[in-house]
Amino acid sequence: MTATRALGVCYYPEHWPEAMWPEDARRMTDMGIAFVRIGEFAWSRLEPARGRLEFDWLERAIDTLHDAGLKVVLGTPTATPPKWLVDEMPEMLPIDVEGHARGFGSRRHCCFSHEGYQRECVRIVTALAERFGTHDAVVGWQIDNEYACHDTARSWSAPALQGFRLWLAEKYGNIDRLNFAWGNVFWSMDYPDFHSVELPGLTPSEHNPAHRMDFYRYSSDQIARFNRLQVDVVRQLSPGRDVIHNFMGRTLTFDHFKVGSDLDISSWDCYPLGFLEDRLEVDDAWRQRFMRTGDPDLQAFHHDLYRATSKGRWWVMELQPGPVNWADHNPAPRDGMIRLWSWEAFAHGAEVVSYFRWRQAPFAQEQMHAGLLRPDSVEADGADAAKTMSEELARLDLPPTETAPVAIIFDYASSWAWETQPQGREFDYFRLIFDFYRGLRARGLSVDFLPPDTSDLSAYQMVIIPGLFAWNETLVTALRSYTGLVLAGPRTGSKTSSFSIPETMPPDLPAPIIDVTVSQVESLPANCPVPIAGADGTLKFWREFLEPGADCNVVVESQDGQPVLVRQGNFHYLGGWPDSALLARIINDLGQQAGLSLLALPDELRVRRDGAVTYAFNYGERAIDLETVGLSGTYLLGESTLKPSGVAIIEA
Ligand code: GAL
Repeated sequence: MTATRALGVCYYPEHWPEAMWPEDARRMTDMGIAFVRIGEFAWSRLEPARGRLEFDWLERAIDTLHDAGLKVVLGTPTATPPKWLVDEMPEMLPIDVEGHARGFGSRRHCCFSHEGYQRECVRIVTALAERFGTHDAVVGWQIDNEYACHDTARSWSAPALQGFRLWLAEKYGNIDRLNFAWGNVFWSMDYPDFHSVELPGLTPSEHNPAHRMDFYRYSSDQIARFNRLQVDVVRQLSPGRDVIHNFMGRTLTFDHFKVGSDLDISSWDCYPLGFLEDRLEVDDAWRQRFMRTGDPDLQAFHHDLYRATSKGRWWVMELQPGPVNWADHNPAPRDGMIRLWSWEAFAHGAEVVSYFRWRQAPFAQEQMHAGLLRPDSVEADGADAAKTMSEELARLDLPPTETAPVAIIFDYASSWAWETQPQGREFDYFRLIFDFYRGLRARGLSVDFLPPDTSDLSAYQMVIIPGLFAWNETLVTALRSYTGLVLAGPRTGSKTSSFSIPETMPPDLPAPIIDVTVSQVESLPANCPVPIAGADGTLKFWREFLEPGADCNVVVESQDGQPVLVRQGNFHYLGGWPDSALLARIINDLGQQAGLSLLALPDELRVRRDGAVTYAFNYGERAIDLETVGLSGTYLLGESTLKPSGVAIIEA
């Protein structure tokens, strides 16, 4: 069986004279591009005034692309409501925590809780789907654009307040239950009724964490609900087309699994250099080293995470084709990197890699953002990469991606939990999970992410559950019958779902799974780690004091004689945040016990082992001999001396 692998591009016909469209379409096809995403910001040109629908130009654009043999993904324009609409109902603007409206003049100026805005979105999407839903060229829909981008998941608006109160009333039924669940006896925070509950805004001291958690849950639910409103319209009026959303990197303010469950395809927008510059806690030396390549694990992390959110089918909807405009510094990719990023996405199972954007715009906010073409239509670096990719994709017949041997449980609510109560400045959920992910990848392991309520773990040899704030019955039941190795902690099971310390104390698991108690925790400044006994490695940022029961063995201890890693049967609990040396040791030991095939990869070499096929990527500045790290077989692409920015595909 072979998998679909194709290229795409993001195109804005409304930005260019119509006379340019046919030539653009022809050049896209010549470059090997098959899919074109259009329309996602075009509301003001689709409806310049209320009810004045001007769709003819879009139809001509779609026809032009179709005539050239291109397939279209039509975006719904709801991330950019036009000025007339905002003027009609200014209460649709999102409000920040300080009470300021985030106004018109860019994008995402809309509060998900505003019912008028929701209705308007359904109206414009219905009109678009009625007109284009069955057009032969339209093979998919992108719903909205990058939910929560620019920090817009949460709004402290009047409609959000109203919606939150209703949501709470539905969740708790009566106010006593809410007061109990939130612990409102503390500091006299009791509410007399649901109408008196406020949004967790500015308060003299910190807000009640349970209150914040519920607001974050509510805000996340609003996005899933908003998405579903549009999905329902599109599914009805445009049958057989794929429904897609494009997620953003390191965006945790809504539950992507919930949104993903209504999609056919999750996609994401992959900007490796921008993300290294402004979305990752790495030191200056690391940033400098990978300035033109991006972090060697960050793209793969998101590929794996978003693959999980829509049960396997996923795309890169936007890939960086050159310097971007939005990070603190915007360097150019090293030669070969656009091809490497493209191949890496396909190695992780992407069906389509689509470049953002076709031609650099000479005007407005993103005029400094590269495209495949320069503003004068001359090909830029990205165009070469696209041509090489299409030629290589046409030549190679590769199998679809398989289940990985290791799984990490990923939980958006846990990110909100540690955002709400970090207890130590560095305690960030994404950062914790990313450390484990990087540690696994350094041993050459491929990883699947799983949602927190996974009911069957049996496909995996090892399951890792760091920082899951509260257990759920489904997962605990799955763990009871799971026979592979489990590594949980730190902080896993340290709260109830309503954000209290569990009665049985963390990690809040029944003794037959593991009999250990976390009696105390401490957070540690970055320069005060806790050294491990008898080996390299420390606990950084976070340490727990563990009391193991009679059946629980201590596997790793700190130099000051405290248990760090304990084991009972197949279940391990880790009482702290391991540095890379300790994590490498733990992954090595557990990996061997689990029968995993481990490699020892340098920082700049990453692989994706997928059944009989291994993909290798060189993020470094020197050639790497793949034989020296134990990789061999038939080279379908590349060779055993992997050059900087090189890609190799090896079949066993
Ligand atoms: C994405 C967004 C695009 C464009 C791009 C620039 O986040 O979806 O519309 O703004 O960034 O890099």
